[in-house]
Amino acid sequence: MSAVPQKQAEKILDVQNVTVSFDGFKALDGLDFSIRKGELRFVIGPNGAGKTTLLDVCTGKTRPASGKVIFNGGSNGGVDVAHEQEHTLVRKGLGRKFQTPSVFGSLTVYENLEAAIGFNDPTISLLRGLTEEEEALIHETLALIGLTERMNVHAGVLAHGEKQWLEIGMLLVQKPSLLLLDEPVAGMTRPERNRTGELLRSIAHRCSVLVVEHDMEFVRNFAKTVTVLHLGQMLCEGAVEDVQKDERVVQVYLGRAHA
Ligand SMILES: Nc1ncnc2c1ncn2[C@@H]1O[C@H](COP(=O)(O)OP(=O)(O)OP(=O)(O)O)[C@@H](O)[C@H]1O
Ligand SMILES: [Mg+2]
Repeated sequence: MSAVPQKQAEKILDVQNVTVSFDGFKALDGLDFSIRKGELRFVIGPNGAGKTTLLDVCTGKTRPASGKVIFNGGSNGGVDVAHEQEHTLVRKGLGRKFQTPSVFGSLTVYENLEAAIGFNDPTISLLRGLTEEEEALIHETLALIGLTERMNVHAGVLAHGEKQWLEIGMLLVQKPSLLLLDEPVAGMTRPERNRTGELLRSIAHRCSVLVVEHDMEFVRNFAKTVTVLHLGQMLCEGAVEDVQKDERVVQVYLGRAHA
């Protein structure tokens, strides 16, 4: 009698045998990697491991030399990232945050979120204003990112951590199905890092999240499943407790970080 296979969620992101080459140097080297709908996944690895290149290839910023990336796969077949423009992918639910926050300093926090809704529909602010649902979405997002009391403050005067949260909020109001974040806690104070960890957990209830992170303490505190990249390949993957103990990880990453 065969065991009934447990139904797993569909893959929101499927990186298939991807190689990215820069003048013959393989930043990603035949990488297979996937995450499922509803996951909060952390990707770690030493400098130059290929983490940012992985995000670049997932958003269509960098084209792979071989292999492919499928976004939002499942019964509808998904989207082959190589066949889409970056902005089309954003419209289809792929949100990406770079390391440096890019908020509009001369607009208020609220106006930044309003503008972000307009990225997907440029007629909003010019012609019709926001719908009630959109206003509600902004207020809900303000509460989630902890900036309700700061909604009328110019974004330019926000603290570094607050700017990062605002930028995450700007992605959230576009209702992504997958968020990609590159080192979201870099430069943050410890309390800011903890708040960001809580925020990522809350966000993961609404969409899948892929976080590239360097800060090991943060990863230990907030990650469940971790993928370790090294030399453009997957070194190992699993529960954070197991990955931390893996001898290869200690050698290439933790060992170096502790040195
Ligand atoms: N545009 C490029 N041209 C040439 N080489 C590149 C380019 N982008 C990345 N690389 C190289 O590819 C490798 C992987 O870079 P990547 O930025 O993906 O690493 P990373 O894991 O994000 O590192 P870090 O932890 O420092 O952010 C590095 O050796 C890097 O120098
Ligand atoms: Mg990087």
